[in-house]
Amino acid sequence: LPLCLRECLDGVVSGGSRSGPCPSAPHLHAPFFQIVDISVPRIAAWNSDELPIYEPGLDKVVKACRGKNLFFSTDLDQGIRDADIIFVAVNTPTKKVGLGAGRAADLTYWELAARRIALVAETPKVVVEKSTVPINTAEAISAVLHGAGKTRFDILSNPEFLAEGTAMTDLDNPDRVLIGGSMSESGQAAVAKLADVYAHWVPRERILTTNVWSSELSKLVANSFLAQRVSSINAVSAICEASGADVDEVARAVGMDSRIGPKFLKASVGFGGSCFQKDILNLVYLCQSMGLPDVAEYFHSVVTMNDRQKERFVSRIIHGLFNTVTGKRIALLGFAFKKDTGDTRESAAIEICRRLIEERASVCIYDPKVEANQIWMDLTAATRLDRTEVEKYVTLCDSAYEAAAGAHALAVATEWDEFKGLDYAKIQDGMVKPSFLFDGRNVLDHGALRKLGYIVYAIGKPL
Ligand code: UGA
Repeated sequence: LPLCLRECLDGVVSGGSRSGPCPSAPHLHAPFFQIVDISVPRIAAWNSDELPIYEPGLDKVVKACRGKNLFFSTDLDQGIRDADIIFVAVNTPTKKVGLGAGRAADLTYWELAARRIALVAETPKVVVEKSTVPINTAEAISAVLHGAGKTRFDILSNPEFLAEGTAMTDLDNPDRVLIGGSMSESGQAAVAKLADVYAHWVPRERILTTNVWSSELSKLVANSFLAQRVSSINAVSAICEASGADVDEVARAVGMDSRIGPKFLKASVGFGGSCFQKDILNLVYLCQSMGLPDVAEYFHSVVTMNDRQKERFVSRIIHGLFNTVTGKRIALLGFAFKKDTGDTRESAAIEICRRLIEERASVCIYDPKVEANQIWMDLTAATRLDRTEVEKYVTLCDSAYEAAAGAHALAVATEWDEFKGLDYAKIQDGMVKPSFLFDGRNVLDHGALRKLGYIVYAIGKPL
């Protein structure tokens, strides 16, 4: 059941849910899910053994449900016609051009999806905002649907809170499910209908219902608070490096206060991912447009601190390597924005590489899951150089050992578990001496590495 949701967020997708007999198995009366996407290759991948994204546990569930109560198709119109509930899970990136560029959410795909639904739907539909959207989007979408459509639509906000890498467990066992709807009779009936879908596996007391605006705003606020915690501990890491305190010790001491709590206090090279920065900038834009510049500035500082953290890490590498990395080989371990995903969107590794290329270093990258093509796309976009130019500075490697051979320094950008188990003595044998290690995730055993002879720099740790 949970499948209809997040895995489709990254394409132009709407998922429909319908109760009643399932087309391929008429004896089934449970809800069934049809995922529709305009991308033919993407749907072909969803229907194959090679799913288009890597997410632990996802392939198992897709394989178990596909063809039973889960279907993938490019037939958008049929999907719309068949569904009782339509989840719109299209991309809502930050606007690149025009009014609000760099801050506001680009709702082009949402509007296109709404116009298609309005055109095709013949029977009443519950339309669910699954994509993260600015507040008041439901109102705008309602205007599009009711202006162009020929039936009744109830628009609900149902933000997604799962995190990549743990998506399947988050879906199975969510802290809460949030559903925002209009207070009208049909709005409340729509809320109840969607709540019933979730109630198949989520305890009722964890299904919260609110008005639409509260639900839309809660999503932006939740991500802003999470990002703010990371920026706060990263700010503390800078104080630790300057003072001799240890950021992990401080995080532990602070997190044991039950009012603060221990989670999301891991200092890092900077947060990435498709959501945090986009959602904060979206919130900042909303505040600015609502005449709240102080509030906007407050939230914007979370992004500023994150940018500084990435820059601080690069400066550490340059200063450590005697103030120049030109022509020096640096092995970058990890390119994804966090472990257990192949996703690189807004990954700190991209900015680290861009800066190292700017400094004319030779960067050898290894990531266990990220596709080579993705790395080239990210780096050509970030550096604005063409691929041949980027290839002068960057080599992609098939293992950490290959990346480290002949390197002056190792830099850990993603906390992949496999990096903890590498044979660092063997690696050091093949490195230039003195061998440097910059742990941007604080995942390695720094004492043991120092005993092996590495010069170790870690985030928020005494030298
Ligand atoms: C985030 C939220 O955690 C989800 O609740 C939300 O649904 C999702 O965004 C979304 O809006 O779609 P996600 O971006 O997948 O999920 O990953 P997180 O686990 O939140 O990590 C985000 C970034 O923060 C990563 O780069 C991670 O390495 C970094 N991070 C996280 C830290 O540096 N330190 C921490 O203590 C925690």
